Amino acid sequence: MEDWSARQYLKFEDDRTRPPRDLLAQVPLQQPRRVVDLGCGPGNSTELLVERFPQSEIVGLDSSTDMLRKARERLPKCRFVQADIAIWQPEPGTDLIFGNAVMQWLPDHPAIMRRLLEAMPQGGVLAIQMPDNTREPALRFQREVGESGPWKDNPEVKAAPRDDLLSPEAYYDLLKPASSHIDIWHIVYNHVMASPQAITEWFKGSSLQPFLSPLDPAAREKFLAAYTAKIVGAYKPRADGKVLLRFPRLFILAVR
Ligand SMILES: C[S@@+](CC[C@H](N)C(=O)[O-])C[C@H]1O[C@@H](n2cnc3c(N)ncnc32)[C@H](O)[C@@H]1O
Repeated sequence: MEDWSARQYLKFEDDRTRPPRDLLAQVPLQQPRRVVDLGCGPGNSTELLVERFPQSEIVGLDSSTDMLRKARERLPKCRFVQADIAIWQPEPGTDLIFGNAVMQWLPDHPAIMRRLLEAMPQGGVLAIQMPDNTREPALRFQREVGESGPWKDNPEVKAAPRDDLLSPEAYYDLLKPASSHIDIWHIVYNHVMASPQAITEWFKGSSLQPFLSPLDPAAREKFLAAYTAKIVGAYKPRADGKVLLRFPRLFILAVR
């Protein structure tokens, strides 16, 4: 996948930072020794961890150079590391692994979550939030446009759609053997967007990236125009011109 654009992602910073706030509110720890923010992005979720745990060592981890540069600018006192979650192992003393809006990008994320939980000390917390929106029109249109344009045989575009998440029961069965306590819940946000076009802008910073990054600039523009036309048809403006972006998310909190 092409490097993430921190600038595009941060266009909707307030809305994007609400799920990590909601996840962090449920973390039952007072003073974890070390906290790792997996897929820290531009540091918005890391900043919440610094505010909540001022006495703890906070580490941000991401694979993207662009995201890490932004995160370091934002939180110069924090340690940031470039690594791939698929092969990363927590150091001893890591009491909280926090992964907001990242694990869905790893095809093998259930096995990785189980491995990370097993590597934690007793009482350690694995806190994960993932978009559960693959059935929403905004994501369905990405697949439809990917399957219908001149790019439809491009192997990277074919591989771009994200798999559905597992059911809550499947995550429970997977993590319970390694957990003393487990909590799984959904929140459905209805983000107020300035216009249907703003929905395209939102997803340009996340799930549209794997569709767009294999394309040349002209094909990207065509893809985005086809996608936006579908969004305009489905997300109708309210009386004030704004549209609501329905966005279900799954939260999982497992205590070792
Ligand atoms: C949607 S952003 C989430 C940013 C932030 N955590 C938040 O709460 O808004 C996902 C981040 O995960 C990172 N990422 C994706 N796959 C990764 C991997 N395999 N290893 C490390 N980071 C990864 C991306 O570079 C991106 O910065």
